[in-house]
Amino acid sequence: MDSFYRKNGVNPGRSGFDAALETEEVVNNTRKLLTELFNGNDPNHLTFSYNASDSLNMILQGLAQKGDHVITTFLEHNSVLRPLHHLEKDGIIEVTHVMFDSKGFIDPVDIRKAFKKNTRMVVVNHSSNVIGTIQPLTEIGKICKENGIYFIVDASQSAGAIPIDMKAMNIDVLCFTGHKCLMGPTGIGGSYVMENVPVRYTRYGGTGVRSAVKTHLNEFPYRLECGTLNIIGVAGLYAGVRWINEQGIENLHRKEMTLWNTLKTGLEEIEGVTLYCANSIENQNPVLSFNVKGFDSGDVGTMLDVDYNIACRTGLQCAPKVHEGIGTFDIHGTVRLSIGPFNTKEHIDKTIEAVREIASIRN
Ligand SMILES: Cc1ncc(COP(=O)(O)O)c(C=O)c1O
Repeated sequence: MDSFYRKNGVNPGRSGFDAALETEEVVNNTRKLLTELFNGNDPNHLTFSYNASDSLNMILQGLAQKGDHVITTFLEHNSVLRPLHHLEKDGIIEVTHVMFDSKGFIDPVDIRKAFKKNTRMVVVNHSSNVIGTIQPLTEIGKICKENGIYFIVDASQSAGAIPIDMKAMNIDVLCFTGHKCLMGPTGIGGSYVMENVPVRYTRYGGTGVRSAVKTHLNEFPYRLECGTLNIIGVAGLYAGVRWINEQGIENLHRKEMTLWNTLKTGLEEIEGVTLYCANSIENQNPVLSFNVKGFDSGDVGTMLDVDYNIACRTGLQCAPKVHEGIGTFDIHGTVRLSIGPFNTKEHIDKTIEAVREIASIRN
């Protein structure tokens, strides 16, 4: 990112001088790399935004029509729940939230049962940021396709973490963020929109081409991009995705899940510790939620940070309905640990020991 920005800190797609063309090439290569990663078709349909929330807002607002019914789940992050809530509050759509089972999975049959005549889209979180379970997208996508319903996936926690095949899973729109498992920096995210999906543009502005036209441009990528791109973010994302491809997504996932299993086994042996939905390494990402009896999750987080230098996320983690489902909404959520590619067995052992010491204070 540093060397790219020193040499190519200019706007792509606006001018024909060398630096501008080189920048455009990096942007196009990143579109290509991500389109291949998600098994899309046309790199121009891979558009960039600030983050997953930004893209989800554009997609949900750009696809919803007055009188639509939208199905989503209790697993969603606020970046899905809130745009849908506002559309509902404004009298545009009606929303149904489908509950997950005791292990943290959505049953595709429950999605099917929620269909109405006016159901236009189903919006599903591929992998929960609270409990880490991976949802059966292929089955849900099949049901949506059979019924002519658009299938939107929030891949914030799965893009770069596990394989995603938009065609095999019948996904119509995939929204992702750059700063998590894609190993990019903050401030970059995006979506891939399949060719047949009539998402309207909801923002207007400069595109660098056809400046005499009064309306915003309908063609991709301009339909969902206006103004100067975060090119330093794109360059970082490019490097991140190439690194993941070099390592192999499956290899990274396997290594992280081995550590997750050690963490889970270690924590569940500690008296006073409750784990949520951590049942099996199958269909699971390396995220673990727990509580320690006698403590608020926030206090455990503070002790882990201050006394042991272990970073975690506590509370409702922007996903309040997950906590309604696992019964932790009224007790201020959970402590959530997540494992990344640079974590080691030593980190995990130290974390188990830290939680054991904290739990021993009150148990
Ligand atoms: C499942 C899920 N969806 C959406 C988001 C929002 O991502 P961003 O902050 O990039 O908008 C997150 C981030 O925590 C997430 O975990």
